[in-house]
Amino acid sequence: MKLLASIAAGLLALASFVDAKQCIKRSSLTPVVDNFGANTSGTKMYIYVPAKLAARPPVIVAIHYCTGTAQAYYSGTPYAQLAEQYGFIVIYPESPYSGTCWDVSSTAALTHNGGADSNSIANMVTYTLNRYGGDESKVFVTGTNSGAMMTNVMAATYPEMFAAASVYSGVPAGCFYTGTVNGWNSTCANGLSIHTQQEWANTVFAMYPGYTGPRPKMLIFHGSADTTLYPENYNETIKEWSGVFGYDSTAPVETVPGTPEAAYTKYVYGPELTGYYAIGVGHTVPVHADLDLAWFGITA
Ligand SMILES: *[C@@H]1O[C@H](CO)[C@@H](O)[C@H](O)[C@H]1NC(C)=O
Ligand SMILES: *[C@@H]1O[C@H](CO)[C@@H](O)[C@H](O)[C@H]1NC(C)=O
Ligand SMILES: *[C@@H]1O[C@H](CO)[C@@H](O)[C@H](O)[C@H]1NC(C)=O
Repeated sequence: MKLLASIAAGLLALASFVDAKQCIKRSSLTPVVDNFGANTSGTKMYIYVPAKLAARPPVIVAIHYCTGTAQAYYSGTPYAQLAEQYGFIVIYPESPYSGTCWDVSSTAALTHNGGADSNSIANMVTYTLNRYGGDESKVFVTGTNSGAMMTNVMAATYPEMFAAASVYSGVPAGCFYTGTVNGWNSTCANGLSIHTQQEWANTVFAMYPGYTGPRPKMLIFHGSADTTLYPENYNETIKEWSGVFGYDSTAPVETVPGTPEAAYTKYVYGPELTGYYAIGVGHTVPVHADLDLAWFGITA
């Protein structure tokens, strides 16, 4: 057995020598040119690997807003600095579309292994876990605006992959459906797509038919003065995940005004769902990475 094992290890080493991997420099944002898996939509992958990796590193996917880039989200959020402190890896996907919004509107994007951006992002996660021996029970996703929409979509289409998600000013998964790639659904954006908890939950279930395993716990941020993705989208997103988890979206089990800041109220709907609703805050609730890392269980 020992001999067989060492022959196998030798073959593996040879295979990885032949299939040489791109050298990824530590502590710098790096475009990944390796084949990370199917990439039908042409989504670009950037990665940040800290100098000192945790033994089985957690992985955070951080998804930029419309008009954003991987570089902009990397420099505009503190996840990379925090990666140096806690030893996790950050993946920054970059949208292939000219306005650099994400495709959260096509049937393919809203389907597990459907072949669109969501599928490419999932493949980036698998590549990263394999390459760095990452902890598949500690994979997280977060994003802002269009990236927040995609965060909800990733949670709905790849529930088996993510342990937790944090959503900054998005819309419910499926709300932006237009049936076209990278479409804009103004009914949803303007807060006019109102559904019951059960209808929203069914929308999520339809994105991965037959899936019955665990789902990521969801942290939802939204501002009351958002005139791009109207604040009704807070309630609708809460209804969606309340429907999925079997909570009552109209009866939070805990309400904490003035946290983490004066204008914010924290609403706990159940162990898997918390929201922060920020009065007077417009489109783009600022990233609260400390709350994210606590929610992900990386701190706290
Ligand atoms: C994904 O598509 C982008 C854009 O065409 C390209 O730069 C990248 O190499 C592709 N990656 C893979 C793994 O196909
Ligand atoms: C936007 O989504 C709603 C459902 O949320 C749907 O009724 C409507 O047809 C969609 N709009 C477009 C342009 O597809
Ligand atoms: C959200 O729901 C709460 C009660 O569940 C309601 O009081 C509030 O007006 C709703 N907000 C919006 C923007 O629809």
